[in-house]
Amino acid sequence: MSLEGCRIVVTGAASGIGAATAALLAERGAEVIGLDRRKPDQGMAAFCLCDLSDPGSIDAAVGAVAGPLHGLANVAGVPGSADGETVMRVNLLGLRHLTEVLLPRLAPGGAVVQVASGAGSGWRDNLGQVRALLSRRSFADGLAWVRANPMSGPQAYGFSKECVIVYALMGSMMARPYGVRSVSLSPGVVDTPILADFEDTMGKAILDRLTAQSGGRNARPGDIAPVIAFLMGKDAGWINGTDIGVDGGSEVAIGLDLLEVEADTALEHFLGAGGAGS
Ligand SMILES: NC(=O)c1ccc[n+]([C@@H]2O[C@H](COP(=O)([O-])OP(=O)(O)OC[C@H]3O[C@@H](n4cnc5c(N)ncnc54)[C@H](O)[C@@H]3O)[C@@H](O)[C@H]2O)c1
Repeated sequence: MSLEGCRIVVTGAASGIGAATAALLAERGAEVIGLDRRKPDQGMAAFCLCDLSDPGSIDAAVGAVAGPLHGLANVAGVPGSADGETVMRVNLLGLRHLTEVLLPRLAPGGAVVQVASGAGSGWRDNLGQVRALLSRRSFADGLAWVRANPMSGPQAYGFSKECVIVYALMGSMMARPYGVRSVSLSPGVVDTPILADFEDTMGKAILDRLTAQSGGRNARPGDIAPVIAFLMGKDAGWINGTDIGVDGGSEVAIGLDLLEVEADTALEHFLGAGGAGS
């Protein structure tokens, strides 16, 4: 699917899913503008150093991005091994600040893809707290809420991703006047440099369970990037205001409360539990 003539901003372009996304979008003809706090090894049409934890740095980077845009892929993120405030700054407040600065520059037909996580899948049960933070509309006000409601790094990671999912959903209403779509994409376990931190903060047992549920391997960045590219294009024109799970089937372990059950007995366990109660 060609993205010829599209100019797309990709955050986190120096590593993992963001690097794979930047490379694939370029391969499909897009002009990619990468943002990251560190320089990528791979070349791209344009690159700006940008620290998403700092709104001043975001504004400076955006000032250096010229012309109209057709897409924004917010891929950058930090794991729960960072402190809670840093996690919230990068994963939510910076992502939101960048999105809202760029939204008026996105051409009709464009898309914003927010990379969330299966770790945010509990957002429906936590909507009150998510809405409390999202109702603080500026980076500074959001940060004040974060400081008044301190969380550990691992807690903040899951909460930041719940907020990203809800922000992408409500973002469809914000983006509608511009003719732009807004979606989130939630990967399961992906083999990237961040994974070692997830093992420390989430525990290897849970990650192994998710791996088993997705058929015995983790995703590679190249499993996620094509879905981001698809969501950017015209063929995804009717996908809006929703979260897309890209996890090889692992989220059923969370959604059907099977995280404690071996993957090869999960189906019997699930159906058996239903049969016992009927
Ligand atoms: N790898 C997984 O298992 C997994 C699972 C679910 C969701 N995710 C999400 O996918 C996204 C990409 O992660 P990844 O797995 O490619 O990890 P990664 O560590 O390979 O890439 C993260 C990128 O974000 C950049 N970044 C971090 N802090 C930044 C900041 N303050 N300003 C600018 N850039 C910053 C890093 O420099 C890096 O290039 C993240 O949002 C992550 O939460 C990853």
